[in-house]
Amino acid sequence: MSVENVPEVPQIEFGEEVADIRKTAIDPNFWYPIARSKDVKRGKTRAVSFSGESIVLVRPTKGKLFALENRCAHRQVPLDIGKVSGCTIKCGYHGWEYDANGDCISIPYLDARKTTRNNVKHYPSKEAYGLVFIFPGDIDKATDETFPNVPSATNPKYKTRYLDRTVDCHYTFMHENLMDMNHQFLHRKLMGGIKTMFLGMRHGSNWFESDYTFTRATGSQPLGEKFMLGDRPKAAPGERDLMTIRTEYPYQTLKFWTAGSEEPALDLWNIYVPIDKENRKNHTFGLMMIRRPKISLLLDIFWPFIVWFTNGIFKEDRIICELEQNAFDNQGSDLNNEVFPAIKGLRKVLIENGVAPNTPNTN
Ligand code: FES
Ligand SMILES: [Fe+2]
Repeated sequence: MSVENVPEVPQIEFGEEVADIRKTAIDPNFWYPIARSKDVKRGKTRAVSFSGESIVLVRPTKGKLFALENRCAHRQVPLDIGKVSGCTIKCGYHGWEYDANGDCISIPYLDARKTTRNNVKHYPSKEAYGLVFIFPGDIDKATDETFPNVPSATNPKYKTRYLDRTVDCHYTFMHENLMDMNHQFLHRKLMGGIKTMFLGMRHGSNWFESDYTFTRATGSQPLGEKFMLGDRPKAAPGERDLMTIRTEYPYQTLKFWTAGSEEPALDLWNIYVPIDKENRKNHTFGLMMIRRPKISLLLDIFWPFIVWFTNGIFKEDRIICELEQNAFDNQGSDLNNEVFPAIKGLRKVLIENGVAPNTPNTN
């Protein structure tokens, strides 16, 4: 990015918002991570939740993990308290047995299983990048083409840190928090006096992205950031760091190129999965991929420090987003007075690709 090429912040009119963004539910017709693979042990179950739907993940004693609605068709008790048996799950109460499709294949005390009333819903599931993904929407749309592609997560040149935490706020606050790099003031204790410069934005019907660069107004580069970004190639005159943040519904990415480098030093992939029906809590899953320096071992040595530093940043973001949610809960509607065009445009993408309030769930 050339210094001479810094544009003015454009004043684009994105039009009226058609719905309250904080009452807009997430579209279930995407692949969503719902757990870390390591947290679903062989022969065990794990209860998870997507937008108020209780789901049981089952890792059979042999074969692939599967996901079912977490409810026995008999007396509605959760299936996660059941017993994994080979490649099926038996309800913990009377032992009705379900296969990976949610079909009841055995009622141990009666031969009355051949009715769909005895079955439960199943969710397409896949494991990748150390995460369990499910497709909570229309099963016909659960194709391989729609599965998230995160190349750096399988690239040995990068080391991956997993983000795995719950934040008590609507998923849209999270998108806005990351897209709006003007909030570095929040991180002033950890980041020091860093100055953000907005370089430009691009958008389409289901995506929005912004570019930034940074200068240090006061103080020196914090050690955590230094370890994360590693040894930098020499920048040509006029070259500068570039950060691009992109929401491609419903996922969000952040890439950071140090001046003069071809590949990002930091490549972040995030998704904020609503837990409750009102989407007021989310489970944030992320893959934070950091490019290995020439002396690769250095990254492993400094890893605990990077974890400490990023935990500090994420904690500040979590607290502020939860305070935004509190304000919404007290006020009953979204009264945010947004002035930054990139966030206005992002909000439009999130509203138009989400499920408007009062739309019946047809899944
Ligand atoms: S409640 Fe599940 S088998 Fe009876
Ligand atoms: Fe932040």
